[in-house]
Amino acid sequence: MPESSQNRNWSKLIYHENVLILDFGSQYTQLIARRVRELSVYCEIIPYYDAAEKIRETRPFGIILSGSPDSVIREGSPALPLELFKAELPVLGICYGLQLIAASLGGRVVSGGDRREFGKAIVDVSEQDMLWTDLPDQFQAWMSHGDRVETLPSGFKVLARSGGLIAAAGAPDRRIWGLQFHPEVVHTHHGTDILKNFLFKACGCKGDWTMAAFVQSTVDSISAKIGSDRAICGLSGGVDSTVAALLVHKAIGDRLTCVFVDNGLLRKNEYETVLQNFLERLHLKVVGVDARQKFLSRLRDVEDPEQKRKIIGEEFIRVFEEQAGVHGDPPFLVQGTLYPDVIESTSVRGPSAVIKSHHNVGGLPLDMKFQLIEPLRELFKDEVRKVGEELGVHSRFIYRQPFPGPGLAVRILGSVTPERLALLRDADAIVQEETERAGLLREIWQSFVVLLPIRSVGVMGDDRTYENVAALRIVTSMDGMTADWAKIPYEVLERISTRIVNEVRGINRVVYDITSKPPGTIEWE
Ligand code: XMP
Repeated sequence: MPESSQNRNWSKLIYHENVLILDFGSQYTQLIARRVRELSVYCEIIPYYDAAEKIRETRPFGIILSGSPDSVIREGSPALPLELFKAELPVLGICYGLQLIAASLGGRVVSGGDRREFGKAIVDVSEQDMLWTDLPDQFQAWMSHGDRVETLPSGFKVLARSGGLIAAAGAPDRRIWGLQFHPEVVHTHHGTDILKNFLFKACGCKGDWTMAAFVQSTVDSISAKIGSDRAICGLSGGVDSTVAALLVHKAIGDRLTCVFVDNGLLRKNEYETVLQNFLERLHLKVVGVDARQKFLSRLRDVEDPEQKRKIIGEEFIRVFEEQAGVHGDPPFLVQGTLYPDVIESTSVRGPSAVIKSHHNVGGLPLDMKFQLIEPLRELFKDEVRKVGEELGVHSRFIYRQPFPGPGLAVRILGSVTPERLALLRDADAIVQEETERAGLLREIWQSFVVLLPIRSVGVMGDDRTYENVAALRIVTSMDGMTADWAKIPYEVLERISTRIVNEVRGINRVVYDITSKPPGTIEWE
């Protein structure tokens, strides 16, 4: 989709500062990006093999090399693009990044043997350096490496050690540094200070990535791109599509038509409530479409979750195309795609590492007629919420729990039927009521029910029952990339379970999911 990849560069119109994070496949790469953005510096994650082109194209202020599950000693492991050093930009290598710098410039990396480090370590600063500005001489850091740097390339010096091993090294006159530990994880004390010293002192960034600047530059680029044309936007009721629609509305006013589709996969009363809120509070031009039959008939007997996603993604587009015909044939379709969706759908490790097709990234039909406008594809969820606040959106919208595009279809394991949807809706409504009543909404990321494709035996009154099992999923998270199961009070769990079994005829057992992400995902699919 060439159009959507062009969208990535929109906001550069105003931002001057840009740092590139070369992804070598570490599980922490997104976390590095988050930390950099928390310091108000715009950054992008790119696969390491795209570095040369991206450096030419974006002229970044500096480069960060991520970690990797690979080993630089292994033949064929991801290598450092040599253009990197020709560009004479400040470079910070993290873990594998440090080892790669060392190995590429003539140093020696060896397998850790019994000297591998995982978990907390104490780092001793051995040489004063700009990276350590305002840091103590000793601090706790998080290590996760098997290999280690044994000999540094010439011109490099050891800047810190942990347990006698090299914990940080650099050639400050060439503006190259490397850390064996992970400054991006919270267990590394002062990790953010180290990144800040690199960005502000070595790269010369000032921190011009603010939400106000983002709104301004995005609205300008949308105006430039759409010109005097029209656009159509699919609203889901969640914060992402709402904020995306508002940005486009700011740029082109009522030439934007928003469509809110009842696909039959929404939660209880959701269609009516959300539609009313859009019209009364946000003053967008919104059309409601009842497409329940279309979606549900295409989903009949479909059990595979990826197939469900593809069908739903395609059906959404068909509804938008139909609506476009009625509303002046706009050539542009606005979507609330976020950065994590983009990252998860285009992994450096190739398609095998793609966990699922997010319906608004991986699942679009190839013959789609629209050009995409995705103003949020560079943002994390919490940044979108800040943009929403910047735009004056009511907190009820901003702090609404995320709800997947494919809706309840991914929370019914097995085939989706009207009967199972009704069961799930009733159970889900109880969870929403009880988590809200317990005042837990701000603490938790999501609370919902998954309807399992199994039945279990129970007793109610004097009767034996043989009914459905519901799994309760309540998680805390910053951005949905990682999550923990929520330790909510037993009394709340008890109330939810009792109410579901008593009030929802057809469910006789409730179980609580105590899996974090990773290794689990939030949705069960
Ligand atoms: P997973 O299940 O991948 O979910 O751990 C991470 C977060 O993303 C939400 N999610 C989606 N959001 N379209 C969306 O807009 C989708 O297709 C989609 N799938 C999952 C999920 O609810 C969780 O918050």
